[in-house]
Amino acid sequence: MSGLLAKYRTWLDLPAYTLDITLHEGGTPLIPMPRLAAELGGGLELYVKYEGLNPTGSFKDRGMTAAISEAAGRGVQTVICASTGNTAASAAAYAARAGMKAIVLIPQGKVAAGKLAGAVAYGAQVVQVDGSFDDALGLVVELSHRQPVALVNSINPYRLEGQKTAAFEILETLGGAPDWLCLPVGNAGNISAYWLGFQQRGARPRLLGVQAAGAAPLVLGQAVEQPETVATAIRIGRPARGEQALAAAEESGGRIVAASDTAILAMQTRLAAEGVWVEPASAAGLAGLADELSAGRLDLQGRRVVAVCTGHGLKDPEVITGRMAAPQVVPVDLGALERLLAD
Ligand code: F0G
Repeated sequence: MSGLLAKYRTWLDLPAYTLDITLHEGGTPLIPMPRLAAELGGGLELYVKYEGLNPTGSFKDRGMTAAISEAAGRGVQTVICASTGNTAASAAAYAARAGMKAIVLIPQGKVAAGKLAGAVAYGAQVVQVDGSFDDALGLVVELSHRQPVALVNSINPYRLEGQKTAAFEILETLGGAPDWLCLPVGNAGNISAYWLGFQQRGARPRLLGVQAAGAAPLVLGQAVEQPETVATAIRIGRPARGEQALAAAEESGGRIVAASDTAILAMQTRLAAEGVWVEPASAAGLAGLADELSAGRLDLQGRRVVAVCTGHGLKDPEVITGRMAAPQVVPVDLGALERLLAD
């Protein structure tokens, strides 16, 4: 076992001084989803790339091993990012691994519990901004011009280099390109990275990028000043790599669409019903695909589709526990238990 830089270094455009700061990220499973495929009804062959199985529970670790390894190689001591949560946890973990300090700016009150806990556990300095992710990103970009800190948001090109590896893994596991790749889009780094990775290997799956309907600037064609969605990971109104994402979707023969919060939560439930629990944002790609299929805008008969599920369900426990009644309680009594189960 090794990390992604050791495995794919010759395919990644990284400076020679780059170190190898790794938590053995990547190598995530591509899980066949036959029941969900049958339910969707389009005659497709469906796989989930389960990125929640990375060391900090999201795909961000692929980019962070590259960005932190590059920063470490030039002696950086402090890294900074703005985040809806997953980037923060990942930056904190890889900075800890490298012996660096991490500062993370998050939108106040809008980061899921598992992500905030992760950033704190790995020892980052966490700062809440009384504003949105977009406001926080503006602040860290400015600060990184004024202070000796390295920015590790996906504006940093090395993040994309690392994230390309997911495309390589899919090609290797399937033995070729899928016909379609669907995935959530927030700050638009990941869809851009996949396209770079596929192109580098001469593969051309069509890309279906999916934003949350309340945070869909790339669908609306304009910035969203007050983005709102249950999928807090992609609650972003001014994606830094928006132009690049639109170009990638178009070049691939695909598109970027929006899915409602209701559709996203319904897809989260359907995925969990087949044993794959993902955070809400991670269900957005498939929610968009399901919408396109049911509206007759996609013909996937006999097609191979990969859905990227970007983060683990454990990241956002409250989206589940906040909606459920407390589980039933029985006394320590077999009869009482049997009566309860018979109901
Ligand atoms: N899915 C999850 C779980 C995410 O955390 C993110 C982004 C995305 C999808 C979208 O990826 O931004 O490359 O288009 N999270 C960032 C963060 C913004 O701060 O953790 P993208």
